[in-house]
Amino acid sequence: MNLEHIKEEYQRLIKEVSDEKSLYDLKVKFLGKKGSLTEIMKGAKDLSPEERPAFGKAVNEIKAYINKHIEETKDELIKKEVEAKLVSEEIDVTLPAKEVELGGMNPLNKVIEEIEELFIKLGYSVAEGPEVETDKFNFEMLNLPKDHPARDMQDSFYITNELLMRTQTSPVQAREMLKTEGEGPIKIICPGKVFRRDNDDATHSHQFTQIEGLVVDKNIKFSDLKGTLEYLIKSVFGQDRQIRLRPSFFPFTEPSVEVDISWGQDGEGNTKWLEILGAGMVHPKVLEMAGFDPEIYSGFAFGMGPERIAMLKYGISDIRSFYTNDVRFLQQFSSDRND
Ligand code: PHE
Repeated sequence: MNLEHIKEEYQRLIKEVSDEKSLYDLKVKFLGKKGSLTEIMKGAKDLSPEERPAFGKAVNEIKAYINKHIEETKDELIKKEVEAKLVSEEIDVTLPAKEVELGGMNPLNKVIEEIEELFIKLGYSVAEGPEVETDKFNFEMLNLPKDHPARDMQDSFYITNELLMRTQTSPVQAREMLKTEGEGPIKIICPGKVFRRDNDDATHSHQFTQIEGLVVDKNIKFSDLKGTLEYLIKSVFGQDRQIRLRPSFFPFTEPSVEVDISWGQDGEGNTKWLEILGAGMVHPKVLEMAGFDPEIYSGFAFGMGPERIAMLKYGISDIRSFYTNDVRFLQQFSSDRND
């Protein structure tokens, strides 16, 4: 095969090249160790010394030509590949979008947020405290000394003798009062998780939530408490609801009340009542322990269970539904997300 033929063959074969792999094979075929040009170069030894330089030069020229041509072809191939990819991946912005499914807000959180908003409107601020609490704040500062029988009302998860999972949000009251060093006013709402030893069933859970309210100032009277509770209950359940206060006992309030909400009528036309929260005037001892002078300051406190409120409000019959995250349950509240 002479040099002219090699060039022609190259020009014929290059037309069939369609990708980088076949281009590489072609390069090897002509320029590789066993390629045609390498082979033909070997024939130089049979030529006369006068012929050799011209022959060598001609071979090198073809080599350079093929090399350069192959590089250019390679660039073109890459360019074409990129273009093809861009075309195939083109985004059609006119296609309809996939619908994004919005999650539902857990009705428990919805109730907590709603109550927070109600009190923020009245000038309260939201305060939080630790879930692992000391005996001092969970009990002692709330007028429940170590041997007090009322401690039995709240079966506790103890971690050590002095540390426990808080059984109520009331310790946040004591913490917040200490912070202001005996100076009022305090107006806070304290939502959070609480823990009590209990056997879980449809109406009991060893972990649940509470929202605590506390107001401490000069001249705070029982009527202020009553008005506040009325505002709360009517805002959450409707203006036609009534509240009823029954005397009760909490070690940290005096007097203490249990608050009922009117809930329809029985067969004989009497109002039915459901218990909804506990409240009272802050016990003078609690004020004193937290650095307030009970001769100057007074206050009220209330505590409620948002689970119970959500169950009544939305007709939920099993408290465990709030925690088990069954999407079928949560989806019933998904439209609430957009309101
Ligand atoms: N901490 C009380 C409980 O868990 C509720 C309560 C709070 C009562 C504030 C009165 C005042 O039972």
